[in-house]
Amino acid sequence: MCGIVGGVTDRNIVPILLEGLRRLEYRGYDSAGLATLSSEGLQRRRAMGKIVELEGVCDAQAIDGHIGIAHTRWATHGAPSVANAHPHSVGKIAVVHNGIIENWAELKAQLEKDGRAFESETDTEVIAHLVESEYNKDQDFVAACRRAIAQLEGAYALGILCRDEPNTLITARMGSPLCIGLGVGEHFIASDVQALLPVTSRFIFLEEGDFAIVQKASVAITDAHGESVERPEKQSQLSADAVEKGDYRHYMEKEIHEQASVVAETVRGKTSAGRFLINTLGPEAPELLEGVKGVHIIACGTSFHAASVARYWIEHYAHLPCQVEVASEYRYRTTVVPEGTLFMTISQSGETADTLAALRHARSLGYCGFLAICNVPESSLTRESDLVFLTQAGPEIGVASTKAFTTQLAALLLITDGLAQFHGRDSLPDLSGLDNIESAIGQVLGLSERIRKLSEQFVDKHHTLFLGRGPLFPIALEGALKLKEISYIHAEGYPAGELKHGPLALVDEGMPVVAVAPDNALLDKLKSNLQEVRARGATLLVFADESAGFESADGIEVVGLPHCSEAIEPLIYTLPLQLLSYYVAVLRGTDVDQPRNLAKSVTVE
Ligand code: G6P
Repeated sequence: MCGIVGGVTDRNIVPILLEGLRRLEYRGYDSAGLATLSSEGLQRRRAMGKIVELEGVCDAQAIDGHIGIAHTRWATHGAPSVANAHPHSVGKIAVVHNGIIENWAELKAQLEKDGRAFESETDTEVIAHLVESEYNKDQDFVAACRRAIAQLEGAYALGILCRDEPNTLITARMGSPLCIGLGVGEHFIASDVQALLPVTSRFIFLEEGDFAIVQKASVAITDAHGESVERPEKQSQLSADAVEKGDYRHYMEKEIHEQASVVAETVRGKTSAGRFLINTLGPEAPELLEGVKGVHIIACGTSFHAASVARYWIEHYAHLPCQVEVASEYRYRTTVVPEGTLFMTISQSGETADTLAALRHARSLGYCGFLAICNVPESSLTRESDLVFLTQAGPEIGVASTKAFTTQLAALLLITDGLAQFHGRDSLPDLSGLDNIESAIGQVLGLSERIRKLSEQFVDKHHTLFLGRGPLFPIALEGALKLKEISYIHAEGYPAGELKHGPLALVDEGMPVVAVAPDNALLDKLKSNLQEVRARGATLLVFADESAGFESADGIEVVGLPHCSEAIEPLIYTLPLQLLSYYVAVLRGTDVDQPRNLAKSVTVE
């Protein structure tokens, strides 16, 4: 949600900023801008729309410099417009900002009383005015930034420049991620390491409340109390081309096809004799899991759907009560926490504001432990959790989550097994499906061409229903979410048995119905539900186990999937739904990787 990149170097910073923005574009893409200092003074270029528009502006009006800051925006305060695009500049000061300043209205009112006029509707412009007004008092840029930041309430990651200080970039974080990229005789800042991989693989991750003075030859960090601190240097294992599209048309397509290898990578080395090695979560994990009497799982979006599958698994295999909730609800309500309850969070990015706030809120509620499933090793979530299961999905760029979801499911299945080892009653999950998961996923992805053809039937539809039962119900929800996110077709997921209690009224020839039908104990129930739908004239697309006895007929198209063990059904049946959404979106000509109004990482409330 909004991306920041900046740096101070002997090179021309502009190509580094633009490449960094391209790599951050998935975080927000309604406008972008950059500012540099050069012999011409403080220069700024901004544009509506994607980074390519900003590149056009920078070509038309040349800009260079050895120090600069840049930003790609996902609008929160004020509509997308050039005036609202960052950097915001007042006098000698320019600012880029991620996050939301909660006391911006009070600060703005005071600044207006002091005679200051505003050009934008953003909270960020307030920060630029504050820094400038402090700077005017003593011309001490660093002190002015400290005094201004001390007045802010809310979330921020900042990059600040001053025309009089061509070797100093100020950065600070509170509630929004920020890393410093270390070079030789040059340093950079970014909201995400991916932005800086072409220039460095060495990073320092700022902690909450940190403030840093970034210069060519040095980085000086102070903590929330103003004390000097050393933050450890980390080496990123990501290669710069890990975020390239390769031969694929879209990141989403690439990420769908990466699932065979990244799910296999996520479970590699995590089992022995068919059981999860609990201590891969950390040496204290076995004792913690043994004492668990119940589980609360909190997440948002697609990660919430992974949590919803886990609820079925944990109650079925581990016989522990499990409650699942979206983070934005959980954080603002009273929760009863029975003794021995484990708090779990699931987040691809580890930076989702609601999930982080839920974790911080939960800290005081008496949980017995805090376990996170996350895809980003240096994220806020992993740093603030006691135990972490790191998925190995690699960078996920497409806004609609695919490989992050299936790796989360694999992680949850293993954790379920860990809990079941202590609490299950002869009902350990069958993990054998994970042994050959790479080829099982590969086989289903081999259905791409068939699904691409079927997607043509959805192009002109306005609504679609997705049905599943048991742990496949959250997969129906996820299928519906994928379709609405990227094709803008209204879609809903339902437990098939609930149809008769309302949604059946919507079913007619214009409403395609997609169902997932593995060969499990609920198959016959599901078949009856689908008969009800067919009887109302709906066309059905059923992804069914080859041995489930479904056959294509008038109005029913059946796509057979190879038989798989029950524990991996949710993972396997997600794949055709991802492919279906992808191809429908491509045919409809939408912006698959960056769908309208959405952002990959929602770091504001
Ligand atoms: C955004 C993304 C979704 C994602 C959700 C949760 O809404 O567009 O794809 O599922 O955030 O993100 P997280 O990083 O916490 O899993």
